[in-house]
Amino acid sequence: MKILIIGGKGTIGNKVSTHFAKKHEVIIGGRNAGDVTVNIDESKSIEDMFESLGKVDAILCIAGEAKWAAFDEMSEDDFYIGLKSKLMGQVNLVRIGQNYLNPGGSFTLTTGILADDPVVMTSSPALVNGGIHSFVRAVSLELKNGHRINVVSSGLVEDAVDKYEAYFPGHNPIPMNKVVNGYVKSVEGKGTGQIIRMYDNR
Ligand SMILES: NC(=O)c1ccc[n+]([C@@H]2O[C@H](COP(=O)([O-])OP(=O)(O)OC[C@H]3O[C@@H](n4cnc5c(N)ncnc54)[C@H](OP(=O)(O)O)[C@@H]3O)[C@@H](O)[C@H]2O)c1
Repeated sequence: MKILIIGGKGTIGNKVSTHFAKKHEVIIGGRNAGDVTVNIDESKSIEDMFESLGKVDAILCIAGEAKWAAFDEMSEDDFYIGLKSKLMGQVNLVRIGQNYLNPGGSFTLTTGILADDPVVMTSSPALVNGGIHSFVRAVSLELKNGHRINVVSSGLVEDAVDKYEAYFPGHNPIPMNKVVNGYVKSVEGKGTGQIIRMYDNR
């Protein structure tokens, strides 16, 4: 398979890319590093990427940002950061990418445990994650050409513990091989419309 992984150089993406590269052709997309340059916040950038790349068999997004801050410090514009990047960035990747996905191909998006088990400072990322879960379930009913779509929702991953541990009291970090398996299940399995939850504390 020819697999496009947006965010494939990131903390999670790096492990996912390394795994799929053993058996498949992997193309990594990112704003600064990778095989193709793309900013998912901008539809034009997504279109330009696919025009240069052509068709692929699987599209993974392991990228997208949202602001973490106390709710009483969040402005309207602060919420738009997550809506434009992690939410609409992934929606636009599917909206545009369906024209560049081979028949039978799959989309795999990324959210996180905050959709189901939020912690303080996460009103924006939790909102966005929940929206993507609903989007995936709904759009899976309408995709054509045998296209599938799933989302991997992981808890705090082991490789990010140093950065985020203080925000997640009592959460058990998720081993990287378990997170990778969420993406494998989506890409190599047959399911669609699934929220693949990789949690360890519920
Ligand atoms: N870390 C965790 O514990 C955890 C748990 C559950 C869910 N998640 C979610 O999983 C995703 C990846 O997390 P991570 O920890 O691996 O993040 P990360 O280490 O910051 O990596 C993110 C990757 O995405 C790329 N990227 C970011 N914004 C982009 C954009 N607008 N367009 C294209 N590429 C973009 C970055 O590359 P460039 O800078 O080159 O663009 C980078 O390679 C995030 O959405 C995060 O919320 C993370």
